Amino acid sequence: MTSDQEPVFGVGDASFQAAGGEPGLQRLVADFYRVMDESPQATTVRAMYPDDLSEAQDRLASFLSGWLGGPKRYAEKYGGISIPQFHTRWQVGEAERDAWLFCMEQAIARQPYTPAFAEYLLRQLRVPAERIRQVQAACPARSGHS
Ligand code: HEM
Repeated sequence: MTSDQEPVFGVGDASFQAAGGEPGLQRLVADFYRVMDESPQATTVRAMYPDDLSEAQDRLASFLSGWLGGPKRYAEKYGGISIPQFHTRWQVGEAERDAWLFCMEQAIARQPYTPAFAEYLLRQLRVPAERIRQVQAACPARSGHS
């Protein structure tokens, strides 16, 4: 690859590398939860998470590692997961989806990514985020009981 060519994200571990590998993903996810903590528009989504975000942080960073073509840390540490099914326990409509993506957009903007990768990553994240909303709409979260 010459310097004037962008890598083809999504092929091999190009995206994982562009994200700065595991340390880069830890920084992204730490910033993501920091933004969530600080943003009034993310209050509803923040309330879905436990007060202590350290385990959520490791789980999301581990997931993103494999999802971006790097080591499959989530599977190694925590086993299998279906992202849409996992999220059916919360009510995720358009507002929650957009608040989550807003936090990601802000967190991505804080990373030293190229504009091309920043744009690619957010576009890719919209896919499972929208899928969560669709599956949730078809299978609404139950409230008031376990
Ligand atoms: C659409 C908006 C979304 C909302 C409102 C949402 C909300 C949540 C919540 C409340 C948790 C639980 C955290 C905890 O209890 O520790 C969680 C965990 C998680 N989310 Fe999401 N999420 C969203 C989108 C996504 C997307 C798009 C992905 C993947 C790219 C994702 C991946 C994960 C992972 C891997 C976990 C940890 C699973 C585990 O506990 O093992 N989420 N999410």
